[in-house]
Amino acid sequence: MELLGMDSIHEVMELEKACFEYHWTEEQFRLGLERGAFFIFGAHEGERLVGYLAFSMIVDEMEILNLAVHPDFRRKGIARELLAAVMRMCGERGMKSGFLDVKESNAPAIALYEKFGFRRNGVRKRYYPDTKEDALLYRYDFTGE
Ligand SMILES: CC(C)(COP(=O)(O)OP(=O)(O)OC[C@H]1O[C@@H](n2cnc3c(N)ncnc32)[C@H](O)[C@@H]1OP(=O)(O)O)[C@@H](O)C(=O)NCCC(=O)NCCS
Repeated sequence: MELLGMDSIHEVMELEKACFEYHWTEEQFRLGLERGAFFIFGAHEGERLVGYLAFSMIVDEMEILNLAVHPDFRRKGIARELLAAVMRMCGERGMKSGFLDVKESNAPAIALYEKFGFRRNGVRKRYYPDTKEDALLYRYDFTGE
């Protein structure tokens, strides 16, 4: 697990295309990284990028923006490792809360986030432009309160 820089954008885009129909553009990745708006942790299998997790840290709040593992490498614990690395770093950096949204039909991602202690705290109706599905909103408490 390591933080990815600008030189990994092409690889991240390849993975993004393999995982999502409605995906982020290269421009979005480039601007986000340039402006320090978010960070990306990558998981490699040999030389190949097989998973990534994009997240932001603003003051004491982190947000999971995107998470994807290549279809050929799923159910091997890669997302779990990525999320563990990100949550560890966010804890060390003094984050107090974590946020994310997930499609209500995305059972794999929901199971993963709930295992890590994210708790559902809201719904945003018809949130996603591609499928018009509801977004389930999740929060994580780093303070243990
Ligand atoms: C969600 C995703 C990132 C999981 O990646 P992964 O590397 O296969 O996940 P892991 O192997 O680390 O699994 C960790 C846990 O997640 C849950 N999980 C993962 N895949 C699952 C599936 N197909 N069905 C049910 N639970 C699943 C399980 O709780 C699993 O723990 P377990 O293996 O002990 O049962 C992957 O399926 C993916 O890229 N999906 C498409 C993109 C996406 O939906 N991203 C999330 C956007 S919010």
